[in-house]
Amino acid sequence: MATKCVIRDVSKHVGETVTIGSWINNKRSSGKIQFLQLRDGTGYIQGVVVKSEVTDKVWEDAKSLTQESSLYVTGVVREEPRSPSGYEMTVTDVEIIHLTENYPITPKEHGVDFLMDHRHLWLRSSKQRAILVIRAEIIRAVQEFFDQNGFTLVDPPILTPTSAEGTTNLFHTKYFEEDAYLTQSGQLYMEAAAMALGKVYSFGPTFRAEKSKTRRHLIEFWMIEPEMAFTDHEESLRVQEQFITHVVQSVVKNCRAELEAVGRDVSKLENIQAPFPRITYDEAIEFLHGQGFDIPWGEDFGAPHETAIAENYDKPVFITHYPVGIKAFYMKPDPNRPDVVLCADMIAPEGYGEIIGGSQRIDDPQLLEERFKEHELSTDAYQWYLDLRKYGTVPHSGFGLGLERTVAWICGLDHVRETIPFPRTLYRLYP
Ligand code: 4AD
Ligand code: MG
Repeated sequence: MATKCVIRDVSKHVGETVTIGSWINNKRSSGKIQFLQLRDGTGYIQGVVVKSEVTDKVWEDAKSLTQESSLYVTGVVREEPRSPSGYEMTVTDVEIIHLTENYPITPKEHGVDFLMDHRHLWLRSSKQRAILVIRAEIIRAVQEFFDQNGFTLVDPPILTPTSAEGTTNLFHTKYFEEDAYLTQSGQLYMEAAAMALGKVYSFGPTFRAEKSKTRRHLIEFWMIEPEMAFTDHEESLRVQEQFITHVVQSVVKNCRAELEAVGRDVSKLENIQAPFPRITYDEAIEFLHGQGFDIPWGEDFGAPHETAIAENYDKPVFITHYPVGIKAFYMKPDPNRPDVVLCADMIAPEGYGEIIGGSQRIDDPQLLEERFKEHELSTDAYQWYLDLRKYGTVPHSGFGLGLERTVAWICGLDHVRETIPFPRTLYRLYP
């Protein structure tokens, strides 16, 4: 074996002999030359095996390689302007690790159910790999934004005794003798953390037993939840648009090749720059009526409504000031108009739907108690949350970004199932 190297780094080894641990992605042959399409997770490179330049054993070993066989390949790195990566390898040696037989995912078309059953292997495809690289870049940029803007990372619990976002989609489990639920949102705990640390954010898995089978819903998804003390609704919207601009532009800058691999129109992403447009719920209802939708004031928007609204913009749009009745118990009413709350949903362009839900929180202890009664929530179970208003209450706001919907939008995918390595959807817990 020569110096070990990964495909991402071959540009540093032009003219040198290196060894790459890799898999066979594909193979072509033209009699006296074999072309090995190699992948190692960091990239792709073509290995060229010339019959007259290698031993008979190397030639025959190369010939026996099948799709997804694993090997150490040794050769000389060359610049090759005609190759997509700009490099090629002239193979001098092949050390087979494992010869694969009957790899199920062949280059032909496969149905979604088949691919989902083989998700553990499907991840090896160039598109799925690119999506996971972009997902990782989004997470990196999210953390960079908050770390650079004075937020502290705080981890809320996963097992909780109560609900945060309504009781209809709680994921029930037992906590020894007690009933418990997988967290729907870390928000309530982040409010406690904000009173201790000022500006905080969480990043973790959340669970909703959604009985809806849509292209936007997962049972297990990851959320980023910032919470800010001494911050009103208006300031929170400004943070949100700066935050999304930072995330999208980081992907545009750092994931060119991956965006190309998923076939994304990058110009649409380059255009995502703060400030973002805003409309109120009232204006949205009026607009929808003009479009022939028959939705009464006071009803929540569904995907078709969100898409119709988003089509007017080439950036995400905030829909603000929803009616009290369709939003969570903790949202602060607008002091000028108590029938609506100081909240906003951020709707992504191109029909990707709501990516952020956020609001200013109720800081008045009495009003919060009233809301608990209206929503028939036990004040005993939430005593700790009421304490936050009892001891030094302050105006505060926060929001939650759904990671998978954000990945779907940035990658231009029509379903969230490809945005997470092992999706948990209605009726799918395998693999
Ligand atoms: O709008 P939601 O329900 O808001 C909250 O949970 C708040 N507690 C957040 C906060 O203020 N801290 O959810 C926030 C986001 C949605 O906008 C959406 O992007 C995503 O989480 N989301 C889902 N993503 C995938 N599958 C699901 N079932 C989702 N439910 C919500
Ligand atoms: Mg929401």
